[in-house]
Amino acid sequence: MFRNFKTVERIVFGRGCFNQLDDILSVQRSAASPAVVFLVDDVFTDKPLKDRLPLHAEDLLIWVNVDDEPKTKYVDQLTAQVHQGMAAADMQLPCGVIGIGGGSTMDLSKAVALMLTNPGSSADYQGWDLIKQPAVYHAAVPTLSGTGSEVSRTTVLTGPEKKLGINSDYTVFDQVVLDPELVADAPRKQRFYTGMDCYIHCIESLTGTYLNAFSQAYGEKALGLCRKVFLDLHPDSDDQLMMASFFGGMSIAYSQVGVCHALSYGLSFVLGVHHGVGNSIAFDYLEEFYPQGVSEFREMLQKAGIDIPRDVVSGATDAQIEKMVDVALILEPLWENALGRDWARVMTRDRIRKLYEQM
Ligand SMILES: [Fe+2]
Repeated sequence: MFRNFKTVERIVFGRGCFNQLDDILSVQRSAASPAVVFLVDDVFTDKPLKDRLPLHAEDLLIWVNVDDEPKTKYVDQLTAQVHQGMAAADMQLPCGVIGIGGGSTMDLSKAVALMLTNPGSSADYQGWDLIKQPAVYHAAVPTLSGTGSEVSRTTVLTGPEKKLGINSDYTVFDQVVLDPELVADAPRKQRFYTGMDCYIHCIESLTGTYLNAFSQAYGEKALGLCRKVFLDLHPDSDDQLMMASFFGGMSIAYSQVGVCHALSYGLSFVLGVHHGVGNSIAFDYLEEFYPQGVSEFREMLQKAGIDIPRDVVSGATDAQIEKMVDVALILEPLWENALGRDWARVMTRDRIRKLYEQM
């Protein structure tokens, strides 16, 4: 069977296109359901972007905190907050949920849009195609580029048992607003690590066994853009990185990520390491799987003057390392993409443990 995957329905790209957001949302507003929920990264509470939000009187603005990666508990809390806000205004559901921020904020927005129409806890839906009801209309405005969340069919959440996405066709955004001006002020390190997420998506997709011409076309273009941004230090790097993120996301939509992402999920779950940082920590020890990718990655590190964290696992207990291995092993499609159908014979618990112990 070939994957019949869903993509984002509408995309607007260009410097300043954020100004069109009000027009874009006006189509969604109706008399019965006029309210839009804005979930905005709380780093913008004292930034000029705050005054540019196209808020109407009935809208709900929620500042979200993404110091920690998105947790199912937080999604459930935000969903309850939206339900309460709607009930207080005699409304059933908002007509839209808009996420403005980086990958974590976008993932929170997708998850809240899904959970507004699906019963129970978001932890019940961590997995593949467990969502049964369509989400509320949801749109993304990225202010950081690299995760590909703006285009992916997942929202990656840390639950009580595992770090795993809610993967479904309903997860995909209805609209994305790609305005490179919004990523210009991202902190240097954050921009780098998020960019490396994109670079690693490309390497894992392009070297994977799931690769086809579709994924390759997007992956190669995204990889070329990453090189322009992080090796050639191209002047239009905000525009380039924004498109690299989008194309990198499209590439993995039809293939998968690989060893680095599987290990990074374990680091995040147990040690709370952020996704982009966790990827960079893990990738540096994966020369045997991605020799060319790792050597180029080191060149990028050097050009950016970034020192990745070392010895992050050295203080971990035996039980913690075992949990990292458990979390990594849940991600079967990633291992299969990286190592083929026989991956479980090649990648034993012991081998995964040894990789973690180096980090
Ligand atoms: Fe990623």
